[in-house]
Amino acid sequence: MKEIKLISGSSHPLLAQEIAKLLKIKLTPITLKRFPNDNLFCRIEESIRNEDVFILQTSALPVSDSFMELLLMIDAAKYASAGRITAVLPYYPYVRSDKKDQPRIPVTARLVADVLQTAGAERILTMDLHALQILSFFRMPADQPLSVPVVVDYLKKKDLTNTVIVSPDVGGLQRARFYAKKLNLPIAIMDKRRDPKNQKINIGVIIGNVREKCAIIIDDEISTGGTLLETAEALVKQGAKEVVGVCIHPIFAKDTEKKVIRSKLKELVVTNTLPFKPQNNRKNNRIKVLSIAPILAQAIRCVHEGASVSELFI
Ligand code: R5P
Repeated sequence: MKEIKLISGSSHPLLAQEIAKLLKIKLTPITLKRFPNDNLFCRIEESIRNEDVFILQTSALPVSDSFMELLLMIDAAKYASAGRITAVLPYYPYVRSDKKDQPRIPVTARLVADVLQTAGAERILTMDLHALQILSFFRMPADQPLSVPVVVDYLKKKDLTNTVIVSPDVGGLQRARFYAKKLNLPIAIMDKRRDPKNQKINIGVIIGNVREKCAIIIDDEISTGGTLLETAEALVKQGAKEVVGVCIHPIFAKDTEKKVIRSKLKELVVTNTLPFKPQNNRKNNRIKVLSIAPILAQAIRCVHEGASVSELFI
């Protein structure tokens, strides 16, 4: 295969440009449009024959349109004789539907994996999955570079004396443990439960000592903000001095940003796996957006050169 070709869907053009700049390449031109009958269309505007093609599309709103557009781009690349097609998914579509934990429900994250393969993807690059088992839904190589290096670098610039890393639920324990190890900090876990009927969050016991400490909550995403803000409140009730949130994927459903601004959180750190831009930066400087472009650029380079991706993030 000759060159790296990076094609961007419409979900996150800024991230695609940032990655292309780091790779010192130009984005491969593509036309994306919607016909009057609402059907999507795409056309890759230069030859990609035998090239190493990376198609970037994150799961931004509207999620199903973003996904359909991704499938069209993969299909177009296949017909255009791409040497190899890697789907680059900074935020994986339907990531939370990853298990059959109720009767008569789909496992949509697995279905997404099947459909990507049918469309013609040959490799997957995604980031900070909600659960590790999603990687095993693929019958093709799938890598999950983590945003840990950029987040840890940022946190290390702070005074971390008397700080504790907090996982908001048992599912996030492995992730929190990873950060705690990198930062050499103790860990605490919350017993979070979500009512499957109304999605309301209930925080039970806290395991670990948070009294008089700065608590850093580590979570994979912020959607309604329920998890983060309820956890923060419970920590304050237990005597935490201040609370910082780290949520990798900034979904920010509806009025979540306002809720964060009104909350007592000292700071919220997110990344640009999704195209989130704080609305009012002056009032809102409590929300920090870190760029994961260097991580994805490095991972793309490793895949192209046949080097290990996981070793980058240990
Ligand atoms: C759930 O298990 C996830 O790890 C996140 O805690 C959750 O998706 C965050 O969603 P929300 O902001 O709506 O509570």
